[in-house]
Amino acid sequence: MMRFLKHPLFLSLLALGIIYVVFAYLLYPPLPKSLLIQYMVICTVGVLLVATFDDRTAARMAEPIMGVLGNPRLLPLRIAAFVAVMGGVGWLSYVFVKPNSAAPLELRTIHPAPPSSLKVYGKTVDLLTLQNPIREQYSKDSEEFAAAVGEGKELYYKNCYYCHGDKLEGQGHFAGVFNPRPINFQDVGTIAQLQESFLFWRITKGGPGLPREGTPWASAMPVWEEMLDEEDVWKIITFLYDYTGHEPRSWELDSQSSEGAVDAAAAQPDTGKGAETLDAAAVDAIYMKRCSQCHGEEGDGLGVAAETMYPAPRDFTMGLFKYKTTDANSEFPTDEDLRNTIRNGLTGTAMPAWKDVLSDAEIDALIQKIKVFGYWDEEDPADLKPIELGTPPKATPELIARGRELFVKACVQCHGDEGRGNITSGKRLKDDAGNRIWPRNLTRPETWRVTRTATQVFQRLSTGIPSTPMPEHTTTMSIEDRWAIADYVMTLREGSVPLSQGETVVKAVRVDGDLPEDPKDPAWDRAPAMTFAMSPNIIKEPRLFTSLNDMVTVRALYNDDSIALRLDVDDRTFSVPGSELERQYALQGVDATRDAVAVQLPQALTGTSEKPWFRHGDKDNPVNMWYWAAPSQEPQSPEMASVLDATGPNKPPVPRADSSELKAHGEWKNGRWQVVFKRALKTDAANDFQFEEGAYTPIAFADWDGLAGEKGGRHSFTSWYWLLLEPEENPARTYGIPAALAVLAGLLFLVAARRARKRYS
Ligand code: HEC
Ligand code: HEC
Ligand code: HEC
Repeated sequence: MMRFLKHPLFLSLLALGIIYVVFAYLLYPPLPKSLLIQYMVICTVGVLLVATFDDRTAARMAEPIMGVLGNPRLLPLRIAAFVAVMGGVGWLSYVFVKPNSAAPLELRTIHPAPPSSLKVYGKTVDLLTLQNPIREQYSKDSEEFAAAVGEGKELYYKNCYYCHGDKLEGQGHFAGVFNPRPINFQDVGTIAQLQESFLFWRITKGGPGLPREGTPWASAMPVWEEMLDEEDVWKIITFLYDYTGHEPRSWELDSQSSEGAVDAAAAQPDTGKGAETLDAAAVDAIYMKRCSQCHGEEGDGLGVAAETMYPAPRDFTMGLFKYKTTDANSEFPTDEDLRNTIRNGLTGTAMPAWKDVLSDAEIDALIQKIKVFGYWDEEDPADLKPIELGTPPKATPELIARGRELFVKACVQCHGDEGRGNITSGKRLKDDAGNRIWPRNLTRPETWRVTRTATQVFQRLSTGIPSTPMPEHTTTMSIEDRWAIADYVMTLREGSVPLSQGETVVKAVRVDGDLPEDPKDPAWDRAPAMTFAMSPNIIKEPRLFTSLNDMVTVRALYNDDSIALRLDVDDRTFSVPGSELERQYALQGVDATRDAVAVQLPQALTGTSEKPWFRHGDKDNPVNMWYWAAPSQEPQSPEMASVLDATGPNKPPVPRADSSELKAHGEWKNGRWQVVFKRALKTDAANDFQFEEGAYTPIAFADWDGLAGEKGGRHSFTSWYWLLLEPEENPARTYGIPAALAVLAGLLFLVAARRARKRYS
């Protein structure tokens, strides 16, 4: 046994196994497959070199191999090895030659070297000597310092939290739209490693101010010089360090020791104390630090961040809660309901999940505080009755069909025929605070707040959503009927394409014959669809903070001479000015416009990893925009397709005098626009993008919700993705090469076996 374990062949295989496990499973972020294969090849060569270093070990290495090849008694093993060698070589070479559509690898330096001086706010500052004036002027425990931190906090929650997160952990409610993602300030690898002058540079100049290695074209970090004054930037910087507990790095520190490491405050409970030791002052402090910026210092929902969000933060003084498991006659949720909301947050809103920051005892203490705000801390929990669930029936097709019938009667008027939240009743829904409210898109579970399962849908529709028009259904509907609807609602998502999880390539499929111009054409089913999240334009004035149209689904087809794209956007409102549907839902005080969507492409590929800036390009890298706008009845005007050229966000895109090369047509039905764009692959215009089969083309998308008055720069958008015109598979290449290599390997095996047998005999 020991002899076997010490054998060089065994040791080599063991070493390779360990290396593979490390590369494939332990490294984070994971290596792309192509790189993994390269590394493994290099390591195999290295291990072989070591294992065959001298003649003796080389001979020992070869011994068992020669044995299998030559020993007449090992014929079955020899046959198995023969099959394994052929199969292995065939499979490996297939992996190499098969068409591969993984996105090109993009590397970026997260903290590139800053310039030595900076032109900002109309003057030139020396970044090497620049100091935070607040720190220079006031000592850390002075009132003035605390006031500056307080103002910095307010500014942060007006301008930064929706990307960098409420907890400064990089998980704001729009963070997921952007790649690279907004930085996590709690991470010891970010601001704890940086000097305040570095932050000053990054904040004032944003993404576009990065040097090339920082891939400025992809960063959504706004240019704050345009929107905040100098003093405000320093206040925010001071707040960032204060909140996270990190110390800015300074020149003196650099030359001393590495005192920089500070525990990430995000991972630590605020007090680390049990419930019995949490006094009122400690709970107040947690509420002020974590909740007040949204829910208000007095619990009235009027925190500094409140104006930039839909839905608005809950006003705790009303004592009304949306997500509860108590029946319609019980006024309040259970503690467990509130605990769930606070621990897990509310998906699709700004309400974050707190379980990583607050201990259970802290959350329980906050629940008590919330009750005091609403004057219901003295309520007897025994008065709260759970929703009666009955016995959940099996979700049979008959039950689901019955659910559909009931859904049409009880839910369609608000949630729309296909469930996209397009109100069909003609009512302008408002919540108890008098704000317009929109029913949930039931085909998009990604936006459901707390509801995940059929049981939870049952609970929601049973008890309603308090403070909103969503009614309870216990008095009007039997338990069986409610289960039928719940099971039907869970099927509504089946027709929608789930949000892409890290996939970035839209594959255009090659078809013979004409490309469809009708969005309903079944030919579209041949194209794989991708759904991307959109963010409203929160990065540059005129900014927009809430937008109801938050996802776009894309499909692409091409043939010998043209390409067609179909964009699907769930849009509850049909904004065709002057139409009856448009007037029905018009918002007070908003100048409605036409719904519109657009595609952005670079004017040309750069041949490097460099791209135009993801919004409107830049002066060296212009972009093409394909724009479609819905028709209008008043004033009368047909739908519109136009091509625009843009050279950066500071100049409006320029429409072409002649856009006839682009065709576009859109149709709205049941709360969804489907818009088809079509253009020739190659055109004569020098400023047009020319499509190439097999090339990765950056592509981005935008949407304007006309009812909400979105126009010009006020709209929602994605960052860059890829479009790939997939070359048709060449079977001779994909299968022929691996087959030929497998046969070759088989032949070599036979030759080697023959020679080994000779030696044996
Ligand atoms: C639209 C989303 C967005 C908003 C709003 C935003 N940021 Fe950023 N920010 C980013 C992204 C994305 C990055 C990472 C890419 C980069 O470094 O440019 C980033 C990077 C940074 C960095 C660099 C940190 C480092 O470790 O290098 C700082 C500092 C920063 N942001 C501060 C702020 C401040 C302060 C605000 C508010 C005044 C703000 N950001 C608002 C998206 C945003
Ligand atoms: C960044 C803003 C923000 C912060 C910070 C925040 N919330 Fe919220 N919270 C919201 C929003 C927005 C809603 C309403 C969502 C809705 O109406 O669907 C909400 C709703 C709630 C609700 C009501 C749930 C229901 O069923 O109606 C509770 C309870 C709550 N928050 C507790 C907290 C606590 C406790 C904290 C601090 C630890 C906190 N929130 C911090 C934004 C925030
Ligand atoms: C009068 C209008 C109205 C009717 C009728 C109505 N809803 Fe709703 N529904 C709403 C509104 C508004 C919301 C969003 C509430 C919010 O965001 O606070 C909603 C939200 C929901 C949610 C989302 C829960 C979550 O966690 O995000 C579900 C599920 C739902 N409704 C199911 C139903 C079902 C099933 C029916 C029929 C039995 C129905 N609704 C009838 C208006 C209505």
